[in-house]
Amino acid sequence: MIEKMNNSLKINKYYSFENPSFNAKFVLQIINNMNYHTRKWVKPEDLNPNHSLFGGRLLQWIDEEAALYAIIQLENTKVVTKFISEINFVSSAKQGDIIEIGIEATHFGSSSITLRCDVRNKMTHQTIITVEKIVMVNLDSEGNPAPHGKTKIEFVKDRLNSTL
Ligand SMILES: CC(C)(COP(=O)(O)OP(=O)(O)OC[C@H]1O[C@@H](n2cnc3c(N)ncnc32)[C@H](O)[C@@H]1OP(=O)(O)O)[C@@H](O)C(=O)NCCC(=O)NCCS
Repeated sequence: MIEKMNNSLKINKYYSFENPSFNAKFVLQIINNMNYHTRKWVKPEDLNPNHSLFGGRLLQWIDEEAALYAIIQLENTKVVTKFISEINFVSSAKQGDIIEIGIEATHFGSSSITLRCDVRNKMTHQTIITVEKIVMVNLDSEGNPAPHGKTKIEFVKDRLNSTL
């Protein structure tokens, strides 16, 4: 069972802390489904006057990644960004860095899907930015919110296999 979980889920953070009253050491494993599909190469046109990655460029990449993720999950190209929560710029990136953008679905609503995003340096895995909540809304042909009927993450390969 644990092996199966480790194959399907990614353990990407470990926290270790001690409790003196019980003379015990706890290791907490944070397990998540974050998938880093997209890599970007930081080029001169992506920089701010401080010569680090311009925040607006990064937000553009995140918004596009969130839209692509939602479109694929909801199987509808008419999806818009409704809400982006607090954005935490943890560290910067510089010209020549390779960064990767991770997205995971945290909630399926009726017309919405809620995502979480983590952007990190590809080589060091140091986090550059985290966005806890991005809400994307599924629209009908008139541009109104429409139920998407999805309740869990799906994989395209499984959809294709089920039509064979
Ligand atoms: C997206 C839009 C159609 C939604 O209209 P709306 O009147 O807010 O629709 P609803 O109140 O029915 O909410 C739709 C969904 O968004 C969620 N939502 C609405 N406001 C929210 C907010 N502030 N935070 C989080 N979720 C929110 C609702 O909970 C609902 O989800 P559910 O159906 O899964 O329960 C409308 O706000 C809009 O067109 N906004 C502009 C979108 C845009 O141009 N984005 C930038 C370019 S992509």
